[in-house]
Amino acid sequence: MKLRPVTEALDRAISKVGRKEFDRLTLHRNPQEWAVDVGHALDSLRNLQSSDVNTDYDDSWVALFYLLWYQPGQINVAYTAIRSMIDSRDAGQILLGDGGKLHVFDLGCGALAMQFAVTVAVAISLENEQCITEIRTDSYDTNKPLVTLGKKLWQQFKIEVSKDPEIAPLSEAIKKVRPRSSTSKNIFVGGNVSAESWISAIHSVYPNTWPDLKETIDQIKERTDPDAEFFTSHSMRENLLRLISPPTDTRRRHPKSTIALRWSSHFPEITRFRKEIYSEISRLPGDFRFNGRDIIWYLDRMVTWSCQDPRFLIYTRDR
Ligand SMILES: C[S@@+](CC[C@H](N)C(=O)[O-])C[C@H]1O[C@@H](n2cnc3c(N)ncnc32)[C@H](O)[C@@H]1O
Repeated sequence: MKLRPVTEALDRAISKVGRKEFDRLTLHRNPQEWAVDVGHALDSLRNLQSSDVNTDYDDSWVALFYLLWYQPGQINVAYTAIRSMIDSRDAGQILLGDGGKLHVFDLGCGALAMQFAVTVAVAISLENEQCITEIRTDSYDTNKPLVTLGKKLWQQFKIEVSKDPEIAPLSEAIKKVRPRSSTSKNIFVGGNVSAESWISAIHSVYPNTWPDLKETIDQIKERTDPDAEFFTSHSMRENLLRLISPPTDTRRRHPKSTIALRWSSHFPEITRFRKEIYSEISRLPGDFRFNGRDIIWYLDRMVTWSCQDPRFLIYTRDR
């Protein structure tokens, strides 16, 4: 399956969902008012790269700009982790047995980057004639706005993918996904014992979240013995990954923690939308500085599949 039509479908889906959300948030408000919210959201997202200041994931503007910048890179990180795991297995297959069922537990799911990545990986495996009949995704997050946008994005992505026969295997894979998301810990109720299981926490491990995430991961592991585990973070927080899932002797650890991302190329529709917001704000009087930083310029950059300096901790097993 070619990457170009997948990128185009995601580009259209993110920009359509983003534009709708922007219209909702700016309804009956003048640009001077909403520009301040945009500035605060971008400032809050910059905290993702600092040490311990928290990002406000309960803010709908933060969720919107997460989608309009980070989402493609995060899907790429999750996809890279999955592909590297598959390539490192003796049989080189997405599933170990021939039961055809997969159950993914994704913690700190945000806008469902892992669900998108699993679906693309499954589409490629279907093309290679592997048997996959059902993919359950159980996605858990403590904050609503990103998950809500992720669900809207999933719906729109389905529509965009279905329009393009070049990515028919992706349509097939999407039909097999049974997504479930929750903001409470009923995530581990009703696991399918015959399915192979994966656990993931993609860039959700932070100094203030890891104890809670570890508790949830340990609870899931009591019920299911995962066939693969995927943990990623910015390089600055790599040490936290081993805290939430220390090595055991039943699984094999992927030899590398730095892995080159699989996809590159850019997203013209999302880029255009961000530039439109930038030009509207830059016409306003006053300077939009937050915590002493002029962060509005950040809207005037090209959106790509890239993610800055990711680290990976991947476990798998062979049967
Ligand atoms: C940087 S985002 C990553 C989202 C997604 N995994 C991705 O790769 O795009 C971090 C996510 O962790 C969530 N989060 C924060 N604390 C959490 C906790 N204690 N349990 C579960 N999720 C949490 C946030 O709401 C946010 O959606």
